[in-house]
Amino acid sequence: MKYSVCIHDQLRDSGDCLVTGVFSDADLAPSTALADTRLDGWIKRFLDNDEFKGKPGEVLCLTPATESGFKRILVLGLGKEAELDASTYCKALAKAAQQVNAIKAATVCCTLAEIEVQGQDALWKSRQIARHFRAASYQFSQLKSGEDQEPKLTELCLMAPQESSRDALELGAKQGDAIALGMHLAKDLGNLPGNYCTPSYLAEKARELAETSDKLSLQVLEEAEMDELGMGSLLSVSRGSRQPAKLIIMNYQGAADSEQPVVLVGKGITFDSGGISIKPAAAMDEMKFDMCGAASVFGTMKTVTELKLPINLICIVPASENLPDGDASKPGDIVTSMSGTTIEVLNTDAEGRLVLCDALTYAKRFDPALVIDIATLTGACVVALGKHISGLLGNDDGLCEALYSAGETACDPVWRLPMNNDYDEQLKSNFADVANVGGRDAGTITAACFLGRFTRDFTWAHLDIAGTAWYSGGAKGASGRPVPLLTQFLLDRIG
Ligand code: BES
Ligand code: MN
Ligand code: ZN
Repeated sequence: MKYSVCIHDQLRDSGDCLVTGVFSDADLAPSTALADTRLDGWIKRFLDNDEFKGKPGEVLCLTPATESGFKRILVLGLGKEAELDASTYCKALAKAAQQVNAIKAATVCCTLAEIEVQGQDALWKSRQIARHFRAASYQFSQLKSGEDQEPKLTELCLMAPQESSRDALELGAKQGDAIALGMHLAKDLGNLPGNYCTPSYLAEKARELAETSDKLSLQVLEEAEMDELGMGSLLSVSRGSRQPAKLIIMNYQGAADSEQPVVLVGKGITFDSGGISIKPAAAMDEMKFDMCGAASVFGTMKTVTELKLPINLICIVPASENLPDGDASKPGDIVTSMSGTTIEVLNTDAEGRLVLCDALTYAKRFDPALVIDIATLTGACVVALGKHISGLLGNDDGLCEALYSAGETACDPVWRLPMNNDYDEQLKSNFADVANVGGRDAGTITAACFLGRFTRDFTWAHLDIAGTAWYSGGAKGASGRPVPLLTQFLLDRIG
């Protein structure tokens, strides 16, 4: 896809679609007004006569009755001018991108960078525009017979209010495009079913990614090596599977050696049947998405290498299946983690924390600036926060605040839950140092408390993406979240 930036008075006079925003209480934006003048006030008359009120979420696709000019004019409601915030703006963009896709427009002119959004600049606006338009072109058709549909959108022109915003708009478009590409990778990995996407497949994908950048190196630990390291907790999960577990470590060196790395740890359960504590059959297919934490760190790594960001980033993915078998872990089994902590496995379906705890212990050797783990960890998180907002927990207020703010900026929100000692006490075991479940109450928090026992030596946060990593129902499919949040967090750190 080609991106270009045009100053508003150079609005091109033709194309497949002109994307415009309209406030419920203000005049047309400069480029829209110009297009309107060229159409002898037709847009304005249309809006005046129609039921279109400019409310958030409203959308109207107009077909001008002239031969010249744009074939379609897409009008988006943005609400009151003074109230336009990042979230309303992103929702309008998502709608616009979806419509542009539906009408199969190839050349699109977008005027939305001209519009003021509370607290956001030109760089942010073009980042969101590029991300949303590119992300809308995603399709997962590799396992359907028949031809792949080529994406129709080939040229996106961003209208700029003035020449001085050109550089910011160009950089933002590049960032947004890279974010969408990272999301595409995360969605592909998430959507691919368990019989394709195994731990070995993830290791293979990491190899492919590493080959695209000379700043990126890869290490894959096999079960024998994990055994030598004492990763008894991780290996207790893969026992029940014929697919060998892998510990995938991607190391991106974009800054000086002396700079401490950010470490991302992504839960990579390529299928979660629950193990011996087997899950009910309804919607069990969705447990192919139980590696979406891993997918999001792959996606973020992809974005980072595309943008060649000046940071050091290490991604660790503990990858395993969770299946029942004669050799599988049984409820009541006690395993010893790499840290030495013994764990009573009261429920084999609480396997995410069992693979994550050893990966987190392993993270320590990189002397991290901070560690973030990303996991589809608890059904309880979907009960608490639904499918809109990811759960955030951690041992450091500064890191949690930075992640919250990155989530707001990236329209990929998170909400923090508490994790004090009262919750940790639910993990008491009569037979081992800790139990792997803490009862029904506050399931998301007790899961984080479990991880918290393995992260005392560094600054750490945990993202529970059980509700946000994929859509269920008719639109079933991976969402690509939280790649936008993680990328924004890294961009904010670079400053
Ligand atoms: N992968 C699941 C969590 C999950 C469930 C995510 C449903 C999204 C939708 C995780 O491994 C799991 O099974 N967790 C258990 C924990 C329980 C046994 C303490 C859960 O949430 O039921
Ligand atoms: Mn489980
Ligand atoms: Zn799981």
